[in-house]
Amino acid sequence: MSEQAFVIGQTVRRLDAVGKVIGETPFPGDINMEGQLWMKIRFADRVHARITAIDTSKAEAHPGVVAVLTAKDVPVNEYGLGIPDQPVLCGPGSAKEGADIVRCISDQVALVVADTEEAAAEAARLIEITYEDLPIVDDPHLAMQEGAPQLHPHAPNNILTHYRIRHGDVEAGWAQADVVVEGEYRTGFQEHAYLQPEAGLGYIDEEGRVTVIVAGQWVHKDRQQIAHALNLPEEQVRVIYPAIGGAFGGREDMSVQIVLALAAMKVGRPVKIIWSREESIIGHHKRHPMTIRARWGATRDGKVVVAEAEIIADAGAYAYTSPKVLGNAHLMVCGPYEIPNAKVDSYAVYTNNVPSGAFRGFGGPQACFAAENQMNRLAEALGMDPVELRLKNVLRDGSITVVGTPLPPGVTLDRVLAEGAIQSGYWERTEDGWRQRPLQQPADPTRRRGVGVAMGFKNVGFSFGAPEENWATVELYGETEIERVVVREAGADVGQGAHTVFVQMAAEAVGVPVEKVELIGHDTAHTGNSGSSSASRMTFMAGNAIKGAAQLALEKWRNEERPAIATYQYRAPRTTPYDPETGRAEPNFAYGYVAQFVEVEVDVETGQIEVVRVVSAHDVGKAINPQLVEGQIEGAVVQALGYAIMENLVTDQGRILNPYLSTYLIPTVWDIPKEIKPVILEYADPRGPWGARGMAEMPFIPLAPAITAAVHQATGIWFERIPLIPERVVFKLREKGLGVI
Ligand code: MOS
Repeated sequence: MSEQAFVIGQTVRRLDAVGKVIGETPFPGDINMEGQLWMKIRFADRVHARITAIDTSKAEAHPGVVAVLTAKDVPVNEYGLGIPDQPVLCGPGSAKEGADIVRCISDQVALVVADTEEAAAEAARLIEITYEDLPIVDDPHLAMQEGAPQLHPHAPNNILTHYRIRHGDVEAGWAQADVVVEGEYRTGFQEHAYLQPEAGLGYIDEEGRVTVIVAGQWVHKDRQQIAHALNLPEEQVRVIYPAIGGAFGGREDMSVQIVLALAAMKVGRPVKIIWSREESIIGHHKRHPMTIRARWGATRDGKVVVAEAEIIADAGAYAYTSPKVLGNAHLMVCGPYEIPNAKVDSYAVYTNNVPSGAFRGFGGPQACFAAENQMNRLAEALGMDPVELRLKNVLRDGSITVVGTPLPPGVTLDRVLAEGAIQSGYWERTEDGWRQRPLQQPADPTRRRGVGVAMGFKNVGFSFGAPEENWATVELYGETEIERVVVREAGADVGQGAHTVFVQMAAEAVGVPVEKVELIGHDTAHTGNSGSSSASRMTFMAGNAIKGAAQLALEKWRNEERPAIATYQYRAPRTTPYDPETGRAEPNFAYGYVAQFVEVEVDVETGQIEVVRVVSAHDVGKAINPQLVEGQIEGAVVQALGYAIMENLVTDQGRILNPYLSTYLIPTVWDIPKEIKPVILEYADPRGPWGARGMAEMPFIPLAPAITAAVHQATGIWFERIPLIPERVVFKLREKGLGVI
């Protein structure tokens, strides 16, 4: 067995590359079964209303219709990743209290199963639903007030979650502060816009299990939620993911999983569904819009001594992952800095908007937008270089965070910032400290150029005491030498290349070339629980599990067992929830660190912002597959660019006015930077497999505030609200007299 790494750190070609390039890889929508039927979902027509009656007679009589299912057909009519607060189908007739109420337009009311998709769609329109309208609240600030419409009995004043931080003595902090900076930051919804809208097949498999082929992020959690709603033992349910066309957090919660299983169970034949883009945009959650008020104080010499913040997050109609997302925002709203005195109140509030939930960064980008704008504005107020100021304040090994505990060992924020700043070419270090190099302005006077910096940290893994585990089995086949390795690992490859990395790590751990390794992936019939492909955790978690299983299998191999098969369950170090009064916690066991340097050009006539160049510096611990790491950086930067300057989901009274990619604009090849330069640093995480940290979300996190800093340098204006769509930018430019002919 080789001691030296030979597969780790190599850009091994993705296992799925050829199949995807030539179009042969089956995604859920591509899979068909003998005798399959088609399903259409009738979504709610209202935003907040009680359903008093549903007449399905015309739909049932429609040619080709096999079944029409409503709330009365759902055995346990509730679901939810954390809190089961959403009916599977809204309407009368189920035992679940409150299931007759529609709370947002994403709610599903009825299912039609028919011979063809057209027949199902036509019949779905024939269902007559009688509503009794209820008052709508579409703004979390209003929803928190006395007398607002109440959405759920368990959330007085619609407050789903309230976290606090009470750290140090803020009064003493304000007394020390020479400079104070204050802002009110607002961030918008964001749609995941994955390539493949929700789709799948439900059927009864050869062992009689209710089976769903679908795209998700965690097969075992999907199975658990399906089993709960169908009132079946989990062994009676099977979930299989074929190729997954992107996820980004948008597939953490249920979309078509439960209803496909329900329909297949009821009709006993395969049932297929494919959502249109419009159905996808209406039917799944969005990134949380947040309003963040922040006030920070620093001494004249650049030490941040106090921070206060309030976060109000729009949770939408159901909980989804709001408590976790808000938890991250709560931790990150004071930035990756050592601030001795802090007071934070964070609220996630129910409204009648489409639910908010997981989206790459998980609350981090919103909080970072506030924190890093604060830092850049402090630098301006102090007349200090923003890199210099950050280096005076960043968390280091042993520094105490605002939640009263240090980060886990291996904190490299200072090096990520400093090395990124140098390699960006925008900064230099002189005898007097850090300074930005002069920037050439374009010849065209309507175009102004600017550079900005921002940084961030992001946890790897579930947080706040949630149990963390990852299961893997390694099987070694052969006689005298290992001829074939089978690794079983359920972690979802959502398109990021996780399966390739699993195979690389298995090959490395066993000491064989990757060609000898075969992966059995996400299918609950053949794997154990590996947790979600989320929170930048899968390389870290699966790597430790695969490594553990390989070591045990090799031991058996040395003891002449043939085949040598071993299973290992990796359990991550324990974390703790926030103290309800002070927020004190050990929230996470690992982090990744990032700093970004952005150059923009602003057209002061049109308000159009062009992001010209992005340098994204990361400590990834160990790049298991460098090209996949670069791919994550490029993808996240483009996605964050959309978030920061383009993507504008417009809602009115809980309805989405632009549920189309023709009007909800995401970046295309014309909008992306001419250069995205990755700076990949490898300071090993002592707990990571081969030192690896997670890195999927990190390159998303600081981009928006780096852009606003660059726009400020270009125009002199601090923007506090994203997305920076041209009309918003133009408005502020004209206020300042810029771009007037
Ligand atoms: Mo991702 S937002 O952690 O599913």
